[in-house]
Amino acid sequence: MDPFRLTDDALLVLDQSALPREERWVEVRSAAKMAEAIAGLRVRGAPAIGIAGAIGIWLEAERIAESEGGRAARGSVSASRMKALEASADLLRAARPTAANLAWAVARAMGAGARGAAAADPRAWTAPIRAEALAIWEEDRGHSRAMARYGRQLFATERRFLTHCHTGGLATGGGGTALGVLLEIHRSGRPIQVWATETRPLLQGARLTAWELENEGVPVRLIVDSAAAYVMERRKVEAVVVGADRIARNGDLANKIGTLPLALAARDLGIPFVAVAPSTTIDPGCASGDEIPIEERSPEELLGYQGIPVAPSGLPAENPAFDVTPCRLVTAIVTERGIHRGPAFDLGGC
Ligand code: MRU
Repeated sequence: MDPFRLTDDALLVLDQSALPREERWVEVRSAAKMAEAIAGLRVRGAPAIGIAGAIGIWLEAERIAESEGGRAARGSVSASRMKALEASADLLRAARPTAANLAWAVARAMGAGARGAAAADPRAWTAPIRAEALAIWEEDRGHSRAMARYGRQLFATERRFLTHCHTGGLATGGGGTALGVLLEIHRSGRPIQVWATETRPLLQGARLTAWELENEGVPVRLIVDSAAAYVMERRKVEAVVVGADRIARNGDLANKIGTLPLALAARDLGIPFVAVAPSTTIDPGCASGDEIPIEERSPEELLGYQGIPVAPSGLPAENPAFDVTPCRLVTAIVTERGIHRGPAFDLGGC
């Protein structure tokens, strides 16, 4: 299942916050609506929000072009077009600050916009932005395929895996990152068993990972997040495999909150801890994990679930959406370019 459907003038976003209960599509025609869909986790997963951000820039450029009403051809429009678009880029980038893919893809779409901004014909301005956004989407599809191949090569014999959050097709433009690797191994005919953490507080593991694996016929067992170390030890898990939202040059990586304890337990138990992410998740501007911005989400996500209170109302709570796993705990990072083995990573050139 794809997270998006593109029409001539809109993007239909599959509302992941409603899955698997309901298949609901949200129509997006502006950057503001896209930022809302990203912040509300209707579209989620680092590569997918990058694609959504780039398409958001294109949709906003169409709105700006529309509002010019033919006046553009008469004067210098380049600066005013880009000024209007820059405000939308800010909005999109701020929607979720941790995943490197979002800011990266927005910058790429903005680059296409800046190059064509002086065009008298508005279509000659917007069409290359659309093409750039679609190229990002297409490239990501290829990244998923390559990562799946490298991941299968890395895990040549393992059969018992633990994963966290959701890293499948809905989180990317293709077949997924960590989950893409597990599906590739499964499709190769090797029997595997996957333990999926439910992933509090928004249950991406229960709602999306367990659902997707079951749909694909992969044996999966759902566990509460806090059962992970027990399961790793007692069920003889052979590898922990996760995605990533931003990777620093030294290999420190941000991923869904709860990833760091998995890496710590894996280290103690002597189990490999592997992250799978496209190179678009690597932030060459971040020397180490200390520089990765961590998104803090509303405490309401902890205090209740879908309108049902699970804690005293108004209780002080903290809700960091990601944590940072230091490279010393990372056995390998799989990108579309190959297998990078830790703990001494130098990802600056990736
Ligand atoms: O908050 P989410 O649901 O967007 O978190 C997603 C993750 O943490 C994934 O592990 C990550 O984006 C890897 S992408 C396939």
